[in-house]
Amino acid sequence: MTQNITLIGAGRMGSALTGGWLKAGFSGGIDIVDPHPSETVSDWAERGRVRVNPEAVPADLLVVAVKPQVFGDLAPTIAQRVGPQTRVLSVMAGVSLATLEAKLGTSLVARAMPNTPGLVGKGVTILCTKPETSAETIKVLESLLTPLGAVEGPIGEDLLPAATAVSGCGPAYGFLLAEMMAAAGAAHGLDPDMAMRLARKTVEGAGALMESSEEDAATLRRNVTSPNGVTQAALEVLMSDAALPSIFKQAIGAAIDRDTELSRETE
Ligand SMILES: NC(=O)c1ccc[n+]([C@@H]2O[C@H](COP(=O)([O-])OP(=O)(O)OC[C@H]3O[C@@H](n4cnc5c(N)ncnc54)[C@H](OP(=O)(O)O)[C@@H]3O)[C@@H](O)[C@H]2O)c1
Repeated sequence: MTQNITLIGAGRMGSALTGGWLKAGFSGGIDIVDPHPSETVSDWAERGRVRVNPEAVPADLLVVAVKPQVFGDLAPTIAQRVGPQTRVLSVMAGVSLATLEAKLGTSLVARAMPNTPGLVGKGVTILCTKPETSAETIKVLESLLTPLGAVEGPIGEDLLPAATAVSGCGPAYGFLLAEMMAAAGAAHGLDPDMAMRLARKTVEGAGALMESSEEDAATLRRNVTSPNGVTQAALEVLMSDAALPSIFKQAIGAAIDRDTELSRETE
């Protein structure tokens, strides 16, 4: 059966998803609800590819991609588009399944945590469903998320904060790595702009190499580390117990704590 999608919030994530559905030739209708449609959304509407702000009727698939802070106020309006058969998928950070159920008045809810590389189709999204969600529904939800890149899961909600701390926040760690490498190069005499170009291209290149390789990250690292060589000298500092291994554990822990706090604030 062809299903229709209603998207609430066509910002960066919502537009990336819609662009992907259109590119993949999604056969159902796409309704977009957004008070200030972007030029891209208006262009899709002019070409008859989506409808913008149509009247509220129950959707088959309702994708919620507004900011978590506005969700509470919007929920009664969104709920008008939720019928007994409507499946809801939220990509909002920190809004729990229980809050979605309570505010939208349905138990057919699921969550997903994308990351920013999804905006260029290179993301990884974690799907989080309730234990009773059927395999058929999971397949539909996964297909909704594939425009953003890889889809992992489904996982239970108890593990979502940890997964969010790794992949949702993870792009920031990659950018920070480039920043830190550049700053260290500059501190050792390199021109700061050149140091940044070197660091940036190196992080980009390492990512591309990892993407094109079947080897795991540790093997790729070992492949560029000659025994007793220059890279090994740097890695001995970075990988000592007090350095990256414990700092990352601490950082992921802090992210998990904050995620848990934010979830309470949106209840
Ligand atoms: N970007 C990411 O990497 C990322 C990663 C993980 C999760 N997420 C989640 O994805 C969600 C969207 O993030 P985003 O980066 O796409 O944010 P965004 O660009 O700000 O998109 C939110 C969209 O919702 C619209 N909106 C505001 N009020 C609305 C209303 N009453 N009805 C319908 N739409 C309304 C906004 O319009 P205006 O701009 O006119 O207010 C905007 O177009 C967030 O909940 C975030 O937690 C994002």
